[in-house]
Amino acid sequence: MFVRHLTVGDFRSYPSAELPLEPGITTFVGLNGQGKTNLVEAIGYLASLSSHRVSSDAPLVRFGAGQAIIRGAVVRDGRESMVEIEINPGRANRARLNKSALTRTRDVLGQVRTVLFAPEDLALVKGDPSERRGFLDDLLVARQPRWAGARGDYDRILKQRNALLKSAAPVLRGRGKQRRPVEGSDTVSERESALHTLEVWNTQLAQVAAPLLYARLRLLRDLAPLLGKAYDEVSAGQSDARVAYRSSLREAMAARIADGEVPELDELHAELLETFAEVRAQEIERGVTLVGPHRDDVVLTLGELPAKGYASHGESWSFALGLKLAAYHLLRHDLGDDPVLILDDVFAELDAGRRERLAAMVADCEQVLITAAVEADVPPELRGRTYAVTLGEVTARE
Ligand SMILES: Nc1ncnc2c1ncn2[C@@H]1O[C@H](COP(=O)(O)OP(=O)(O)OP(=O)(O)O)[C@@H](O)[C@H]1O
Ligand SMILES: [Mg+2]
Repeated sequence: MFVRHLTVGDFRSYPSAELPLEPGITTFVGLNGQGKTNLVEAIGYLASLSSHRVSSDAPLVRFGAGQAIIRGAVVRDGRESMVEIEINPGRANRARLNKSALTRTRDVLGQVRTVLFAPEDLALVKGDPSERRGFLDDLLVARQPRWAGARGDYDRILKQRNALLKSAAPVLRGRGKQRRPVEGSDTVSERESALHTLEVWNTQLAQVAAPLLYARLRLLRDLAPLLGKAYDEVSAGQSDARVAYRSSLREAMAARIADGEVPELDELHAELLETFAEVRAQEIERGVTLVGPHRDDVVLTLGELPAKGYASHGESWSFALGLKLAAYHLLRHDLGDDPVLILDDVFAELDAGRRERLAAMVADCEQVLITAAVEADVPPELRGRTYAVTLGEVTARE
């Protein structure tokens, strides 16, 4: 697919902008802070309903304005559709597809698909586990948008279970007597009822946790060989990039999963329930859920060493790039259609060899959008169509 036209209104630094685009490679050049990333961020938002730079929507709306509009005309298999998002910080966002309002904003997911690589992605390698979990879950949603709902369900149930663990902890720990006596109840029945409620939440959480875990494991199994290949290509075979899932389940199961095995859904479901039972005392003590996809991680290895803490800056950057390129190839293969590839400020961080090899790798993608502050950093064969971005003015060059 490709974006044929982008319109933004009160988005970031732009009061308004109209940007015609074509398939193939387009490069945005301009000095720092001129609005290059803002443009590609808008396209990324159409695809994921989130920004790669900020977790809340407020900074996306031009300072002083009440709402932002992003509109994209996207062409897939020769058919064009119009996707529009209205960003209303503090209120519900709205989405339109071909001018018709959608009931839920997230129903627009899947209309635009992008893979965006930006400096923030260095956190995939250097950052907390939540970065890597987020990468997997975002990719699940890009592959199958229904995961957006499932992920929301998981977060909601987890929150409720944590709230129970926190509020009922004294009762569950058997210190009911220290609490204010509850009218008409004794501590034994209070305790029984809290334990029963915990059981109910265990069942509910396992029901959403097992499919999410299963989906992540299958995704990682599909992604691993593509990552190996992408890293190999970028680095000219310097070392082996590998990924392994680190699960919060009990040791024996975690070891199988770390080895790349994908257990059946039923088995994961049963294992989750058994692990909940095993860590119950600890969970009650600490008042949080200690088991489940929200506690897991993806371990990245380069050669014999963990990437986090060991890899050089360029290697970490290449690893993160490898993950994104692998995601690109996975989506391309799955959907039989190329997502839009966005490379925000990628080239400045790579050595000459890596730049050239990356250029060769993206040459056949349907649409590639590149931003760079220094034009000379972008290999000449990728400079095709160039826009100069100066103080929010976008002008075609050549
Ligand atoms: N909500 C907003 N309202 C107004 N201006 C904003 C808003 N958010 C960001 N900006 C401005 O947009 C500019 C940043 O734009 P952008 O990140 O696209 O720059 P860039 O061209 O990618 O620069 P660099 O080369 O440094 O990456 C900054 O000057 C910032 O002040
Ligand atoms: Mg930028």
